[in-house]
Amino acid sequence: MAFDLVIRNGTVVSASEVLEGCDIGIQDGMVIAIGRDLPITEGVEVIDAEGAYVTPGGVDSHCHLSQYYDPGPGEEQRTQTTDGTIPARYNFSGDDYESGSRSAIAGGTTTIISFAIQFRDDESLRPVVTEYHKLAEDQAYCDYSFHVIVTNPTKTVLEQDLPALVGDFGISSIKIFMTYASAKLSDYQILDVLDTARGLGITTMVHAENADMVDWVTDRLEQNGMVAPHHHGTSRPPLVEAEATNRLVTMAELMNTPVLLVHVSSALATKVIRKAQTRVLPVFGETCPHYLFLMAERMRRNGFEGAKCVCSPPLREDSSDLEAIWHGVQNGTFTTISSDHAPTKYNHSNGKLKGLHGHEPHGKFKHIPNGLPGLETRLPLLFSGGILAGRITPQKFVELTSTNPAKLYGLTKKGAIAPGYDADITIWYPQEKFKPFALDNDMLHHDIDYTPFEGYEFKNWPRYTLLRGKVAFSEGKVIGSMKDGKFVRRSTSQLSTPRAPGKNEWLSLRGNLTSLKN
Ligand code: URP
Ligand code: ZN
Ligand code: ZN
Repeated sequence: MAFDLVIRNGTVVSASEVLEGCDIGIQDGMVIAIGRDLPITEGVEVIDAEGAYVTPGGVDSHCHLSQYYDPGPGEEQRTQTTDGTIPARYNFSGDDYESGSRSAIAGGTTTIISFAIQFRDDESLRPVVTEYHKLAEDQAYCDYSFHVIVTNPTKTVLEQDLPALVGDFGISSIKIFMTYASAKLSDYQILDVLDTARGLGITTMVHAENADMVDWVTDRLEQNGMVAPHHHGTSRPPLVEAEATNRLVTMAELMNTPVLLVHVSSALATKVIRKAQTRVLPVFGETCPHYLFLMAERMRRNGFEGAKCVCSPPLREDSSDLEAIWHGVQNGTFTTISSDHAPTKYNHSNGKLKGLHGHEPHGKFKHIPNGLPGLETRLPLLFSGGILAGRITPQKFVELTSTNPAKLYGLTKKGAIAPGYDADITIWYPQEKFKPFALDNDMLHHDIDYTPFEGYEFKNWPRYTLLRGKVAFSEGKVIGSMKDGKFVRRSTSQLSTPRAPGKNEWLSLRGNLTSLKN
């Protein structure tokens, strides 16, 4: 066998095994052999893993790049420009594809699935996907794909665009919202989307929070002058998430459509998901490192700086929520751990300070853009605070951060180190060689002026990240190029299918009108 590159002496981890003293043979960007003492002929490049863990490159299936910030109550969303400048939808202060993918690669992630968002007045999804291709092409250090956010399920969307999503676009997942004024769908619209998605094998991701509960509580808080950043958390208690999660699970059962509850943050919502899974409903759960490592007290820190930790669902007050999320990770309730990298700068007119300016002295939490940065820290946090802290096995780490997201979203050549798979590989430091350090935002490669994990002590970090056999990150330096990343077409999910094909089909009018009439 002729290899271009051999990774020597790794402790190679899959979702089920840990193989010590293992070599990986790579040719043309693909893994072609795994074994002991693979032959090394002249001219073959060799990387010595020195016994360290070697894991499949991370697959981060939830991040927001080049995406507008939610404009907040009372502010108009502009979607058109007349002068060729960047439309308002991209008038954001977060990461674009270049900076976001650079930070992904520096944190051991080799594939990202980010969002292409439909605006309310977009009739069709086609131009939306085309625009996002333009934003990402030749701008990505890692491979990428898109989920489409559906905010307006028009006739065109339901009858033409979604049926073409997998075949024409190579996209097999959508996200819908139950909250945010500019994005939320009514229950009626959600049923329409789920009904359509079922027949097409599309996986539907759902942001589950009860919008009316949030608005009602927010109004009462405002009347009482409770507007500081931490009241963002007060306005979205766990019940808000649990109610919407339960409603969504009920709608998914009615429609017999697989759903993934994204960024789950509370014990109550986790329980709803677990119960649905026990009933063998095709209900999946995703959580994020910030719900495993951070709590609501962060929003009270340093005056308005608490805004840096405002995200939705919010960080929780009670450590029992954090523990319940860890339990959900350990017991299989959660299928994936993503970053939900949805950053805005702190010090920027469209950034976190937007919630303070004009609303001094305490600011108004409802004007703070939601979301946290976390693409680069996702894997190292779970390595240090998960594997090394004894909370998860290396196999569980791989399953949740790479293998499962690849399978769930139809990335057939990603998520494993195995013959025939892309050679997307993260090589860690041998533990005894690594000097723990406290994180400083300047060490990160994103374009954000803070990290919520500032000061966290990391006990390991990716030493090398390989994208399709090419070293893209080496000992602290990004050496790949922003032309290396490619769009990856996806097939339908290898994990999510309706519970029993045919069950509840009678509820769909499409194709069944005749039988209903009879
Ligand atoms: O606060 C968050 N998570 N913002 C990003 C958008 C979303 O809901 O995923
Ligand atoms: Zn969301
Ligand atoms: Zn998100």
